[in-house]
Amino acid sequence: MSAASLISPPLTLAEIPQPQILSLGVLASGSGSNLEAIAQSIRGGALKARIQVLIYNQPGAGVKDRAERLGIPAVLLNHRDYASRADLDRAIVETLKQAGADWVIMAGWMRIVTPVLLDAFPRRVLNIHPSLLPSFRGVGAVEQALSAGVKVTGCTVHYAVPDVDSGPILAQAAVPILPGDTPESLHARVQVQEHQIFPLGIALAAQRERDI
Ligand code: GRF
Repeated sequence: MSAASLISPPLTLAEIPQPQILSLGVLASGSGSNLEAIAQSIRGGALKARIQVLIYNQPGAGVKDRAERLGIPAVLLNHRDYASRADLDRAIVETLKQAGADWVIMAGWMRIVTPVLLDAFPRRVLNIHPSLLPSFRGVGAVEQALSAGVKVTGCTVHYAVPDVDSGPILAQAAVPILPGDTPESLHARVQVQEHQIFPLGIALAAQRERDI
């Protein structure tokens, strides 16, 4: 598989006009490698954006330490402290608005979001998923791909909608499954691609919004 066919659309950030600086709020539950990739893309000047705030929901999540190291304000909103998904999302919306975020970037946010969040940021909530959607939605997407015996999987940046891991697709990258792959080895290669397509997907979403 050539590099040219690995990512679609086959564009670099330099080829996407970015006349405005985007204000991002990132939601994450895990190690935060996608947060870091977006932050590095911004630092390197490729993605014209600022990360106003990180919201995380797991007290021990590695993403908090990364945010500290990157100088990104981090706010813990522990879902266990809220009676419902909608209540958590109300707190998220308030935190994002206070921080001045205009875009919501779900970078490994392991919670189902509700219309409370989606309606507060129409067409501005983006998600990354470690499969070539619409295959292998939900948790364990890498394991699902291995069990299914597919030969190629990948990752997808898409608009979030009320259904999990659905919504219009912005960018995808294909990752071949190799003999002997484990969930860990395959996920590691998928993540390398996630780090490429997430900044790209963000810039594409902003471009689409300007074109409407
Ligand atoms: C990513 O693989 C993402 O696709 C999935 O969760 C993982 C988060 O990874 N939803 P990280 O915390 O950004 O390293």
